[in-house]
Amino acid sequence: MKFDMEQASHSEVYKLLIGLIAPRPIALITSMDKEGRLNAAPFSAFNYFCTDPPIIGVGVANRPDQAFVPKDTARNIRRTGEFVVNIVTEDIAEKMNICAVDFPPEMNELDIAGFTTAPSVVVKTPRIAEAHAALECREHTTLEIGRSRIILGRVVAIYVEDRYVDPAGPYIKAEELHAVGRMNGLGNYVRTRDAFVKIPRLSYEEWKKRQA
Ligand SMILES: Cc1cc2nc3c(=O)[nH]c(=O)nc-3n(C[C@H](O)[C@H](O)[C@H](O)COP(=O)(O)O)c2cc1C
Repeated sequence: MKFDMEQASHSEVYKLLIGLIAPRPIALITSMDKEGRLNAAPFSAFNYFCTDPPIIGVGVANRPDQAFVPKDTARNIRRTGEFVVNIVTEDIAEKMNICAVDFPPEMNELDIAGFTTAPSVVVKTPRIAEAHAALECREHTTLEIGRSRIILGRVVAIYVEDRYVDPAGPYIKAEELHAVGRMNGLGNYVRTRDAFVKIPRLSYEEWKKRQA
């Protein structure tokens, strides 16, 4: 099938893109409003974009019910200039999903999900204590695009539980961290437990040897 994106509805575009650009890592973002009230929500339009400087990006749409009002995460980040990306792993995936419920503002999704917090090292916004790794970020730029925005964050500190770090690299012991990825919506996720395949990078010399 072929789809003309100029003719497609927003819902069709969304379903096609999230179905094809998958699996996606999930950023469970903690942010604070000006009064210091904490907010948590998951975002899978998420990746790193450069390492020098260390920049990650997150796509945050407007609220589904109000076309011109950004989601709380985006509003908080604009106002405070900082946030924390908590890495979503298998053991906290169900709780992460609770944080995506559109609760009224007076309800705290972290409490409801059963998460607790721990202080960050550099930013004021705390990380989620149950997450095994977190990226502390300062807003670099927010690019407003249509009814959405891409938030670029500069990573200013990283927390990883000791047991998931091989100090030799330092490498992340990704085979043990069990990160999960979001797939095509419909509540579909992938586990990474026992799912690794090794495909080592080849030098030109190695590639030529293989052809011989
Ligand atoms: C796994 C997962 C990934 C999500 N990814 C995104 C995303 O990339 N962008 C977005 O705008 N909403 C995304 N959502 C929906 C938001 O999490 C949801 O709208 C949330 O209520 C926003 O909360 P906030 O208003 O407190 O920021 C996702 C939901 C789930 C469950």
